Amino acid sequence: MADTLTITDNRTGKQYEVPVTDGTIKAIDLRQIKVDDDDFGLMTYDPAFTNTASCRSAITYIDGDKGILEYRGYPIEQLAEKSTYLEVAYLLVFGELPTAAQLAEWIDGVTTHTLLHENIKHLMRGFRYDAHPMGVFLSTVGALSTFYPDAKKVHDPAIRLSHIKKLIAKTPTIAAYAYRHSTGRFYVYPDNNLSFAGNFLNMLFKMTEAKYEVNPVLERALDILFILHADHEQNCGTNAMRAIGSSEVDPYSAMAGAAAALYGPLHGGANEAVLTMLRQIGNKANVPDFIKKVKAGEGRLMGFGHRVYKSYDPRAKIIKKTAYEVFDVTGTSPLLDLALELERIALEDEYFVKRKLYPNVDFYSGLIYEALGFAPEMFTVLFAIPRTAGWVAQWDELHRDADQKIARPRQIYTGHRTRDYVAMDKRQ
Ligand code: CMC
Repeated sequence: MADTLTITDNRTGKQYEVPVTDGTIKAIDLRQIKVDDDDFGLMTYDPAFTNTASCRSAITYIDGDKGILEYRGYPIEQLAEKSTYLEVAYLLVFGELPTAAQLAEWIDGVTTHTLLHENIKHLMRGFRYDAHPMGVFLSTVGALSTFYPDAKKVHDPAIRLSHIKKLIAKTPTIAAYAYRHSTGRFYVYPDNNLSFAGNFLNMLFKMTEAKYEVNPVLERALDILFILHADHEQNCGTNAMRAIGSSEVDPYSAMAGAAAALYGPLHGGANEAVLTMLRQIGNKANVPDFIKKVKAGEGRLMGFGHRVYKSYDPRAKIIKKTAYEVFDVTGTSPLLDLALELERIALEDEYFVKRKLYPNVDFYSGLIYEALGFAPEMFTVLFAIPRTAGWVAQWDELHRDADQKIARPRQIYTGHRTRDYVAMDKRQ
């Protein structure tokens, strides 16, 4: 049987047949459905794009019911165990795991760009002492476009690649400067002899010691968190990257927009909310009472539930294991016991079971970030650093896709139609 959809328009009695490809019909195929010649044609109404595929993508696969997340076909569990963030960034951008020579060239190509132009440093100094590091981060990423005018040549794959490397390399430096700014400390220049995560920790925490010793367990834990956050298909920030990028603006400007989307509390801010919630609960004895309140609709169990995952978020499983490794080094946090107790009770409770509410990526990540010494305002910045790899990979894919044009949704107009201008003295 042909893969088509037969539509009967009950307004006219006419029938239409539209092709079904990959479980999808093309919205534009509905335009032929009209009540008369003056009719614009049928559209779909989909605020928040909950049932609209905006692109074809070969980068990240998610099966929310089964709890599967794969980058370019490789399960997240295997990448978190065996790979590094920079190797994963290569995989996302190029589609295949690198050979040893390709990886060495890639790491070299990225790390030579970790420094920021000195004027960027001056620019960042202009922010207020209490500026939120995420506001500083996204503004500075946007400002980079003024330093690289050739980034406008978005049709040239070699130029795109050169800026992909720059963005991946420079985001940890911007993030670290933003953090040092918020704490009133001097900025630490990148050390390219260290790993990606090790260099970041060095830029954040080095003080007057001759050499800051990066703890290998914490360095690896941060790298794993970077791997887990590197991409998550068409989420709000990535959609912003693609929508802005579709205007053919340079990637720095597009990424400033993507980072702005991530800044929102419904997107990148939930891990901070988990810590606030745990502190409010205070101790294990208060957990049943808190759960009762959540079930009565008085607030949400933060770090639980997900629009796509209707089973345990595969990233949360890995983060939970990593949390134990970090706490072995830093000493445990009383909040961890509380989080474990919350999870235990929630997973047995019919309210959460029925609604398929499981821990998401944010449930344990805030605990690790805090143990690593980060202030809560840095949590979203820590998300933005690795998401850069996903954003630039998706942006590059956009520019290779012949189906794509400038993003320009339609609307259902609900306002007045043509009426005459009313003189001021006649207005009510
Ligand atoms: N605690 C209590 N009840 C919940 C929760 C929660 N965390 N999440 C959903 N529900 C209930 C909700 O009240 C609704 O119940 P009912 O059917 O009785 O009205 C049902 O579950 C379905 O909820 P929904 O709001 O329709 O689900 P959604 O897919 O629109 O929301 C979500 C997804 C992540 C916004 C939501 O689960 C939530 O607010 N979670 C807490 C915040 C959080 O942890 N966010 C991090 C998301 S992962 C990071 C990222 O990808 O950016």
